[in-house]
Amino acid sequence: MSIPSPPKMATEMALVKPISKFSSSTPIFTNSRYVKFTTVRMSSTSQPTTKTAVKGGKKAAKTAIKETLLTPRFYTTDFDEMETLFNTEINKNLNQSEFEALLQEFKTDYNQTHFVRNKEFKEAADKIDGPLRQIFVEFLERSCTAEFSGFLLYKELGRRLKKTNPVVAEIFSLMSRDEARHAGFLNKGLSDFNLALDLGFLTKARKYTFFKPKFIFYATYLSEKIGYWRYITIYRHLKENPEYQCYPIFKYFENWCQDENRHGDFFSALLTAQPQFLNDWKAKLWSRFFCLSVYVTMYLNDCQRTAFYEGIGLDTKEFDMHVIIETNRTTARIFPAVLDVENPEFKRRLDKMVEINEQLIAAGESDDIPLVKNLKRIPLIAALASELLATYLMPPIESGSVDFAEFEPQLVY
Ligand SMILES: [Fe+2]
Ligand SMILES: [Fe+2]
Repeated sequence: MSIPSPPKMATEMALVKPISKFSSSTPIFTNSRYVKFTTVRMSSTSQPTTKTAVKGGKKAAKTAIKETLLTPRFYTTDFDEMETLFNTEINKNLNQSEFEALLQEFKTDYNQTHFVRNKEFKEAADKIDGPLRQIFVEFLERSCTAEFSGFLLYKELGRRLKKTNPVVAEIFSLMSRDEARHAGFLNKGLSDFNLALDLGFLTKARKYTFFKPKFIFYATYLSEKIGYWRYITIYRHLKENPEYQCYPIFKYFENWCQDENRHGDFFSALLTAQPQFLNDWKAKLWSRFFCLSVYVTMYLNDCQRTAFYEGIGLDTKEFDMHVIIETNRTTARIFPAVLDVENPEFKRRLDKMVEINEQLIAAGESDDIPLVKNLKRIPLIAALASELLATYLMPPIESGSVDFAEFEPQLVY
């Protein structure tokens, strides 16, 4: 998800509550993305309580902001262009009655009372140990960061579009409500492991990636839909195989993923209202590019964390391919072109990328001097780039539910 300039931390600060019951003897988390309970306590002003806390917290967090290409990111966009796109005077394709209907749906707030925790959480977390514990923590942390990224972007869009298009703006604000809830729930999950993600610090310290509105639409639509398929697949799997239900958060995924599905549907309506982003050859190329980026990122990420998926009884690659195929089928309803992910060549190439990525990681972790490390990396990066390109150039699937006459855009379902 993306985001503009860091917005004021009001709602989001409510996500990180001080956990005063932990004392200095609380297990220390070595990963510095976390607030150390005894040194930095988040308050409603996001200020650490003591000077030492500031130093300790910042120093720690700085180490943590070391990012890779595969880390969940925060984004920003061109808000002036966004305002133009959603100006009903300028854009006659905006179907305000459809947005009104969507707004009513968001106002219904189906999950208002869904995210309520119970004592099962802490008890379950205490039973998770060994390598799985760390990988569980990482799952919570990455998911929380991704949800929080969505919260920040939607909140800012809600704020910036208020004057131009109050209906669309309110939907964004209500989506940020959902994402704040999701991020908050995941962060509370971290508290079961005696940790908490410092979201206030993350907001200020994290680098924001700039995407033009068009790319925000592609990327966000895909990320909502892939989120939906991930959550629902895990939920259904654990419902059928309850012996792997090792932490209760997964029981919430069924209703939770409906939020993501609604968010994705909203972006689908936004894209339909911007036919220029769907109806030319450039749109086809970009659609395929974003599909590729999102699928490859997920595959490479998950293949580095097979212990997590195996820990809940899933085969990582099978799970990912299922999610990719379903997401791609959903996406084909709106994007003008998608990748042929059901062609066996696609998975073969993904697996090749996993191999190369593993070699890249090994090269980075070796004891070689930086020069040697870099020399070793060059051919690997070239090989990865060539796999990516070959996958991108595979014959695509022409798709989309929107057809356009040459000079007079018209929707045909
Ligand atoms: Fe979410
Ligand atoms: Fe979402």
